[in-house]
Amino acid sequence: MAYTVPKLKDFSPAALDKAADKLLAALDKEVAEIKTESDGKTFRDRWMARKNGILTQVNDLWLKAAPKDAKRDVGQRVNELKARVEQTVDTTLDHIRGGASSKGVPVGRARARDSAFQDRVGTGSYAECLDITLPGLRRPLGAEHPVIKTMNEMVGVFRNLGYSVQEGPEIETDYYNFESLNFPPNHPARDMQDTLFIANQESKPLRDRLLLRTHTSPVQIRTMEKMKPPIRIVIPGKVHRNDPPDASHSPMFHQIEGLAVDINITFGDLKGTLDHAMKAFFGSSVKTSFRPSFFPFTEPSAEMLVSCFICGGSGRRGSEPCRPCKQTGWIEILGCGMVDPNVFEFVKGNGYDSRKVSGFAFGMGPDRIALLKYGVDDLQLFFQNDIRFLRQFA
Ligand code: DAH
Repeated sequence: MAYTVPKLKDFSPAALDKAADKLLAALDKEVAEIKTESDGKTFRDRWMARKNGILTQVNDLWLKAAPKDAKRDVGQRVNELKARVEQTVDTTLDHIRGGASSKGVPVGRARARDSAFQDRVGTGSYAECLDITLPGLRRPLGAEHPVIKTMNEMVGVFRNLGYSVQEGPEIETDYYNFESLNFPPNHPARDMQDTLFIANQESKPLRDRLLLRTHTSPVQIRTMEKMKPPIRIVIPGKVHRNDPPDASHSPMFHQIEGLAVDINITFGDLKGTLDHAMKAFFGSSVKTSFRPSFFPFTEPSAEMLVSCFICGGSGRRGSEPCRPCKQTGWIEILGCGMVDPNVFEFVKGNGYDSRKVSGFAFGMGPDRIALLKYGVDDLQLFFQNDIRFLRQFA
């Protein structure tokens, strides 16, 4: 007959001993009968369920019912019983699970463990059958991926400048990815980015069609829609383009975008901020240089170069030419510029009146920065998940 918790009338130490012994004997007997994981769960619920489990009943029928002068003693005993039951339930479930999925444990060992278990449960001293000399489960320590590490470090530099982090969807609409960033429909600037569109959307208006975002810039607009100026944000994330994989291209890669909007933001602020960020990231001896460029969403636009942190800007490494900077002493790191007033036009309703506010934006590719920083010569290595490669960065 299954064990039920008796009501106690006698709370003397001897009577309590007897009741506790009965309970523990029932516990051991039930452990011995457990065969499957589902038995284990039923067992756990029977003993530990908050609502009417055996421990709860012990609490109600023994502790709560105890007369005042016996409360202390009963309390102590009930606590001991609780600990014992909890430990037994834990070890039993662990054992059943370990036994059922003993992947990686040599069969001989798993068996040895099982028979030890069977031998001991009969005797009632279940805890003793734990073989602490068995090797534990190895949980290899993970490490940050070199690209994520680079992104986190760069984001950290901007956080220290008071920037907050924003994110946005990787599946984006044409409106956010292009139109609101001043790429009008059919404008040739769209050809700068070979875009992956989701198929079969011809029936939708162009602006609602879905695509894989080609840059993190759409989050500029998404953020300005929800936050009024002034803002200072960085946007790390994944982007996609129809670029076949090779040593320096990948259909999926990463970007970090930045945007600052306030009153009286000038190109001087852009230069000062980015120069500081590059020194904080690459070391205080790097120099920056800007040259004119074009992006539809910034006017004027620029490309920023940093002096080559590999050859120190000389273009040579000893007697060899410096390859990463192609002997120029400079490495192109990012695109940037002053936010085009046409972009503010799309978020004018939220306080972005281009007669009152101005801003700068920038976007960089952390994959390339990580390639340079770690001296890796093939971008594909970052995305193949070969543990032998990744382990070197742990
Ligand atoms: N979105 C650009 C690209 O993917 C990079 C970029 C350039 C972002 C200039 C900016 C910027 O915010 O101001 O090529």
